[in-house]
Amino acid sequence: MSDILTHQDAGVLTLTFNRVERKNSINVAMYDALATALEKAAGDAATRVVVIQGHETIFSAGNDIEDFLKNKPAGMDSPVFRFLRGIATFPKPLVAAVCGPAVGVGTTLLFHCDLVYAGDNAAFSMPFVNLGLVPEAASSLLVPQMFGYHRAAEALLLGEPFMAEAALEVGLVNRVVPPSEANALAQAQARKLAAKPLSSLIATKQLMKGGQQKAVLERMGEEGAQFGRMLGEPAAREAMTAFMEKRKPDFSKC
Ligand code: COA
Repeated sequence: MSDILTHQDAGVLTLTFNRVERKNSINVAMYDALATALEKAAGDAATRVVVIQGHETIFSAGNDIEDFLKNKPAGMDSPVFRFLRGIATFPKPLVAAVCGPAVGVGTTLLFHCDLVYAGDNAAFSMPFVNLGLVPEAASSLLVPQMFGYHRAAEALLLGEPFMAEAALEVGLVNRVVPPSEANALAQAQARKLAAKPLSSLIATKQLMKGGQQKAVLERMGEEGAQFGRMLGEPAAREAMTAFMEKRKPDFSKC
């Protein structure tokens, strides 16, 4: 079984994280599969809407930390950046269903989705500072815009999880439902979108998001340069080694 399941039906392409035993953490092969699926879906007349979903208990634990240390992203053509660029510039509607933890890119990818439905067990977090890193996916730009600066600072500097109701309040999610209903709700909304004229959907999305696209891509590049540099520095090495050794990190020398 693939770690990213793809299912195409009635104009809706569904991408499902399918690595529950590793908490749906995303490795290079998964980024490559996601990026390739989005690149194909953008130009494929059979796909009108894309849904991204996980499992009822876990959306994604973010980057696979072990894989990340072994395969550091090398430049803007690396699978992770192809995925981030793909999701930020995807012309058709993107719908997400999120249940359980959504860590790191598991949360930041949602800023590029058009509709987000959450199970009431969803726990969002962007613990980049706790990993000795900086935000990615243009979240350093998009989180303050959506949350307001002080709530963004709490989310990005403290990196503590916030639950579905708080995400609803700040506008990150559209609706909170029981976890068993989130994927079905996302599918139902995707089917409604798929029945609408695609040219109008694409043009409307472009009108809403187009004005900021250049700034988003530039910020992703700036974040990526810092993220890449910091991955090799002592704080990130300590944080990631501590995670793998199941101990608390010691940043007293970082
Ligand atoms: N990368 C690699 N492996 C991961 C992972 C990740 N991001 N997240 C979880 N795993 C692995 C764990 O090491 C564990 O492996 P083991 O069974 O060999 O011990 C397994 O998946 C189960 O994870 P566990 O932590 O025991 O599950 P949990 O339900 O207690 O907690 C999370 C779930 C998501 C809250 C927790 O795993 C977590 O915080 N993960 C790291 C998140 C993170 O920092 N991501 C990076 C963002 S850039």
